[in-house]
Amino acid sequence: MKVLVAGGTGAIGRPLLTAMAAQGHQAYAIIRNPAHRSMVTELGAIPVVADVVDRDGLLRAVDGLAIDAVMHQATALRSAKRKLRPDDPTTVLRKQGTEHLLAAARVVGARRFVTQSLITGYGYRDHGTTVLTEDAPFGVHVGSVADLVVDGSVATEQQVFEAEGIEGIALRYGMFYGPNAFSDMFAGLLRKRAPIRPAGRCGTTCFVHVDDAATAAVVALTKGNPGTAYNIVDDQPASWQEFIDTVAAAHGTPRPISAPGWLIRMMVPYLGCLLIDTTMRVSHAKATRELGWSPLVPNLRIGLGLDSAVRS
Ligand SMILES: NC(=O)c1ccc[n+]([C@@H]2O[C@H](COP(=O)([O-])OP(=O)(O)OC[C@H]3O[C@@H](n4cnc5c(N)ncnc54)[C@H](OP(=O)(O)O)[C@@H]3O)[C@@H](O)[C@H]2O)c1
Repeated sequence: MKVLVAGGTGAIGRPLLTAMAAQGHQAYAIIRNPAHRSMVTELGAIPVVADVVDRDGLLRAVDGLAIDAVMHQATALRSAKRKLRPDDPTTVLRKQGTEHLLAAARVVGARRFVTQSLITGYGYRDHGTTVLTEDAPFGVHVGSVADLVVDGSVATEQQVFEAEGIEGIALRYGMFYGPNAFSDMFAGLLRKRAPIRPAGRCGTTCFVHVDDAATAAVVALTKGNPGTAYNIVDDQPASWQEFIDTVAAAHGTPRPISAPGWLIRMMVPYLGCLLIDTTMRVSHAKATRELGWSPLVPNLRIGLGLDSAVRS
C-alpha cells in the first residue's frame, strides 16, 4: 500500500515508518520541518513537506499523489499548556487535523484511514476492576478539564467513521513507553526532581510499548474492519506509582519525589485527572481476534529492560 503518514517523526512515528517499510508498504511522511527529510528517507519513507493544521498548504503538498491509505499519528503533547484549553494543539490535531487529513485523503484517492485515539475516552474516572472492551461507552465526561482530551478522541474517531467513501479505523492506545515515549518524558521530569509521584490515592491504567503500538497500526491498515475501534494495550495494567518507580529504576534517575494529590493538581490540573482520578483496565482481545495483533512486550518491566522474558 501507499500510505500518507502524519506524525512519522515522533515516538510512535519512527517505529511505524520502519514497520511499514518492513511490510512492503510505501510511506509518504508529512514533515513540517524540511530538516527531517533525511530522517524519514532513511526510514524508507518519501518526505512530503506540510503542516497538518494548514489545510490549504497540506492539500497543495499532496496534490498529484496517488495514495491508498492515510495514517494519523500526529500529536503535540510536548507543547501542551499547564492548563488545558479547547485549543490545545493535540486537540486541534484530533479535530481540525483529522478534517484536513480526510480532505487530503479525497485529493489523493485514499479509501482507508487509520487514526490515533486514546483509551482515556472511556472516561477519566475510577472504573474499578471492570475490564473495558470497545463496547463500553466512549466519550464519557466526568466534569473535569480532562473532558477536553476525551472530546478530541471522539472527534477524530467520529470523523473517520462517518466520512463518506472512507474505511475508517481508530486505535485506542494505552500510554506509550519505550524510546522517545512517555517513559523518556517522565525520566526527564524525575531527573529534574519534579514531585510527580502521587503520594496517596493513585490511578491504575494501561500502557503499550511504542513498537507494539506501531505494529498494530500497520496491521490495521489491511486487516482493520471499517468503522471499528480497537484497544491497543499490553497485558499488564499498572499504577502510576509502579510506572514512575519502574521508569526511575530503568533510567537510573534520582528516587522519585512523592507529592500529595492537591499539589499535583495545582501544578498541572490534567495530571491530577490522569494520575489520580483515573483507574481503568482495558482488554485488547478484539485486536487479537480481528487483527491477529498481540503485544510482544507484555509489560513495563520487560519493555524497559528490568526483566528479561519477551514472548517470541
Ligand atoms: N498514547 C500515548 O500515550 C501517547 C500518544 C501520543 C504521544 N504520546 C507521547 O507524548 C510525548 C510527546 O509526544 P508528542 O505529542 O509531542 O509526540 P511526538 O512523539 O513528538 O510525535 C508527534 C508527531 O506529530 C507531528 N506533528 C505534530 N504537529 C504537527 C503538525 N501540525 N503537522 C504535521 N505534523 C505534526 C510531529 O512532527 P514534528 O517532528 O514536526 O514535531 C511528530 O511527528 C511522546 O513521548 C509521545 O510518546 C503518548
